[in-house]
Amino acid sequence: MAVRLHDPRIEQRFAWHPLCTDGDPPIARWPNEPARMLPESCHLSQTAVQRFYRYQACVYDSTRWMILHGRRRAVERLRLQRDSKALVIGCGTGLDFRYFLERLDPERGRLTGVDFSADMLARAERRVVASGWSNVELVQADATELALGRRFHAILFSYSLTMIPEWATAVDRAYAHLQPGGRLVVHDFGTFGGWGPLGPIMRTWLRLNHVETQRPYLDKLNRVFANLETTRWLGGYNFTAVGRRLSDDLGG
Ligand SMILES: C[S@@+](CC[C@H](N)C(=O)[O-])C[C@H]1O[C@@H](n2cnc3c(N)ncnc32)[C@H](O)[C@@H]1O
Repeated sequence: MAVRLHDPRIEQRFAWHPLCTDGDPPIARWPNEPARMLPESCHLSQTAVQRFYRYQACVYDSTRWMILHGRRRAVERLRLQRDSKALVIGCGTGLDFRYFLERLDPERGRLTGVDFSADMLARAERRVVASGWSNVELVQADATELALGRRFHAILFSYSLTMIPEWATAVDRAYAHLQPGGRLVVHDFGTFGGWGPLGPIMRTWLRLNHVETQRPYLDKLNRVFANLETTRWLGGYNFTAVGRRLSDDLGG
């Protein structure tokens, strides 16, 4: 299992919150290299979302089950084959991973998780090691600058797109990484349209947690994918959008 910085310009400042004393610090590791600490930082550590997850990483898994639902359904919609090459953008601590790995062949299938938070990736790495998954690669990268140099059969954003200010660029970068015939699924918070007076409260609370629900995500996805299928759940609590790349065009 490898954790790597995909772009040498992108470095991550290692920081360990005193509350998070239940494990080893994050490491970056190439397959045949000894573990090493992530290097001192430049621009990635400046974002508000990264600072947020520096302190949230240690409580993420024990708290988010209350609010982040439907990941299994989202992964099902990717229609993975045993030998699929799959990518999760904004993978966080890897809570989605098991739904992929129960479908992928350990030898022929492969999962790549991308996140720009070293603290979240460190948690993901622990999960991968503890589960004995040998076909998972973790990459530290910004979704808006993604350039992995290969394409994937299946790409998932789960509860990550709404946290990315330059989200439209992230969609374009994802599309550029999608094989013709491949599927992209966005599973995220909706606009709470059916929640009456509770809707604005939910949207405000999420905004305070760096989640913006009211951007035109579906308009953009509809421009990129002529065949977009969208399902809204629980009165607009969340949505799942599925697009299939038809040809080798440039998207929109
Ligand atoms: C709410 S978490 C979701 C994590 C995981 N997909 C899940 O369902 O639990 C959002 C994740 O997106 C990541 N993220 C936000 N903006 C990003 C960006 N521009 N590039 C890469 N990752 C980003 C955050 O670091 C965080 O780990």
